[in-house]
Amino acid sequence: MEQTFIMIKPDGVQRGLVGEIISRFEKKGFTLKGLKLITVDRPFAEKHYADLSAKPFFNGLVEYIISGPVVAMVWEGKNVVTTGRKIIGATNPAESAPGTIRGDYAIDIGRNVIHGSDAVESGRKEIALWFPEGIAEWRSSLHPWIY
Ligand code: TYD
Repeated sequence: MEQTFIMIKPDGVQRGLVGEIISRFEKKGFTLKGLKLITVDRPFAEKHYADLSAKPFFNGLVEYIISGPVVAMVWEGKNVVTTGRKIIGATNPAESAPGTIRGDYAIDIGRNVIHGSDAVESGRKEIALWFPEGIAEWRSSLHPWIY
C-alpha cells in the first residue's frame, strides 16, 4: 500500500494546527503509520531539502524548519501521495484553494504549515530519513473498506 511522508512545520505546531491537520487525513480515510514530535538540526534539515540546495530560499527554509519542533508522520492509503498533496494545497498559499490546508491556514510561502512528499519514490526516501527506527505495526486486521 502506498505511503507518504507528511510533516507539520514549526509554524503549524506553534499555531496549534496539529489536531486539525491530523483530523483531515484521518477523515479522508488514510491510515496513520508513523508519528513523532521532533526538533531537527541543520544538517538533517539540509538533507531533507537537499534537492533545493541551489535555490535562493534554501537557507531561510532550513532556518524555518529547525526553528522548533515539527510533527513527522507517515500516512498510508490508495493514492496517498497525490491525494495528500491535494489536501495540502499549492506551495504558495496565495494560490492554494480554500478548503486545502495551506489555502485555509497560510498566507506566506515561507510559512506554509505543512510538507508532503511529491512522489512515491521521494516519499520512500523521506520516510527512511525521518523514521530510521521503522514505523508501527498494525496487528489487527482492518475492515476491507478502510484504506
Ligand atoms: P517545494 O518542494 O518546491 O514545494 P512543496 O513544499 O509544495 O513540495 O519547496 C519546498 C518549500 O520551500 C516550500 O514548501 C516552501 C519553500 N519555498 C519558498 O520559501 N520559496 C519558494 O519560492 C518556493 C518555491 C518554496
